[in-house]
Amino acid sequence: MDGNGRWAQSKGRPRIFGHIHGSNKVRTIVKECGKAGIAYLTLFAFSSENWGRPKEEVQKLMGLLCKYLSKELNTLIKENIRFNYIGDVEKLPPSAQDILKETVKKTSANTGLCLTFALSYGSRNEILRATKLIAKDCKDGLLSIDAINEDVYKNYLYTYNLPDPDLIIRTSGESRLSNFLLWQAAYAEIYVSPKYWPEFSKADLKLALQDYSKRKRRFGLIGAQATKPNEAQL
Ligand code: FPP
Repeated sequence: MDGNGRWAQSKGRPRIFGHIHGSNKVRTIVKECGKAGIAYLTLFAFSSENWGRPKEEVQKLMGLLCKYLSKELNTLIKENIRFNYIGDVEKLPPSAQDILKETVKKTSANTGLCLTFALSYGSRNEILRATKLIAKDCKDGLLSIDAINEDVYKNYLYTYNLPDPDLIIRTSGESRLSNFLLWQAAYAEIYVSPKYWPEFSKADLKLALQDYSKRKRRFGLIGAQATKPNEAQL
């Protein structure tokens, strides 16, 4: 969800103005993905690097997160959305951790869209964490080195219960992953929208999905072998 700050600055407004509009846009796009029948949507809401931003901006982002979750809980329940989060959330303020846990608990029986917020998330850190957990299990005799394979490794990532993303949409015209789901994105299709996140609309989402539906995915095979249809999972 890139471009909140630049969008605000282009309007001569403070960065937080962009984050407020950005969080409103989360509401719109989540609803639209639910309606489109998308099974999984993961939003990169706060990176491990974002802790280095000015203290006031970090505090305001945490406040917006809490406000979003407390305001949206009933809508998430009503719209059958299951909430989930990934990342080093123990770094978040305790009030934010409480509301995250409460939202997960109260939406856990829902069967529609699985909405995941990546918070205090960095993929290199996630991979290091998984490696240390694997090393510990090997040391403790719970796992043998020979048993380590991609499926086992996946189980040690924050995303152990999520499928790999089929499509990654990056807003604001930047063509990079910026430490997002590096392991999981091995075969993800990447779509770059020129729009800043606060101006990314339902129509822009539709464009991304239409573009994705035309991609030919081969997963390292030759065309005739790779028949997996493009079911959109953002
Ligand atoms: C990137 O834009 C955005 C963020 C670092 C924060 C995303 C936060 C929200 C959308 C609002 C609150 C979150 C939720 C989940 C309700 P940027 O600040 O890096 O923009 P820039 O690249 O233009 O400076």
